[in-house]
Amino acid sequence: MQFIDTHSHLIPHFDDGSPDWETSLEMMRQGQEDGIVEAVCTPHILSKLDYDREAELYRLFEELRHRAKKAGIAVKLHLAAELYLQPDLNLDCRMATFADNGRYFLVEFPMNLIPDFVSQRFFDLVMANRIPVIAHPERNGKILRDPEKAYEFVERGGLLQVNSGSLNGVFGRMPKILAMQLIDANLVTMVATDAHDLRSRPFKLSQAYETVMNEWGAKKAQKLFYDNPRKIILGEDIQAEEPKPWGNFDGKLSLKDRFKLIVDKVRM
Ligand SMILES: [Fe+2]
Repeated sequence: MQFIDTHSHLIPHFDDGSPDWETSLEMMRQGQEDGIVEAVCTPHILSKLDYDREAELYRLFEELRHRAKKAGIAVKLHLAAELYLQPDLNLDCRMATFADNGRYFLVEFPMNLIPDFVSQRFFDLVMANRIPVIAHPERNGKILRDPEKAYEFVERGGLLQVNSGSLNGVFGRMPKILAMQLIDANLVTMVATDAHDLRSRPFKLSQAYETVMNEWGAKKAQKLFYDNPRKIILGEDIQAEEPKPWGNFDGKLSLKDRFKLIVDKVRM
């Protein structure tokens, strides 16, 4: 099986991801063995100071490509960024959108809240064909408390990216349950590694792929781990699945009841 990863911190010396070139190459070897054929490097861009480091980032990215090629690693790399949410997201710089396609961008919310300006701002961006991909919504405290927020984002044209680690249970029980709940409701566009290191957050997708395969079948898994990631990189349209309405699952179950069902299914 082949995977395309859309969220990773493989570039060293820039953020809290890979600490050095050696680790970056080892992470890439791990990923290649695991089935990852293409990946987007998405370093954290937290503030204006980081936006000003764009030239440095491109230098590091090119060096990683060069070193990987020299080491015989065939994973094809692209560049984007994980933009920390702020009122003035600068989407015009090259690193802001996936492979500089000007369309899809990866955005990270604060851990425990969603600022009030987000809804309207995202709606305006979607109208301008700038599509936010929300990184790991299943780890956000506000969405964990109020999962219908995730539905609202998708309804307004945003996309959701779930972490493979969440499906593997690395972040605990509730993010795993929410990740499965979101996939089950057809709200998730793709699963990505958010790889930071060799062990706790590795550059691997096969275990999460197995989970999705077993739970929802090969077609869904292919979409979340290859087809949609490819479209995100190329800036192509994503065929969104019809979200299952909250509170009307099978016409009977409320969101809370659905949560309970998933809780029962989750084996930690
Ligand atoms: Fe990340």
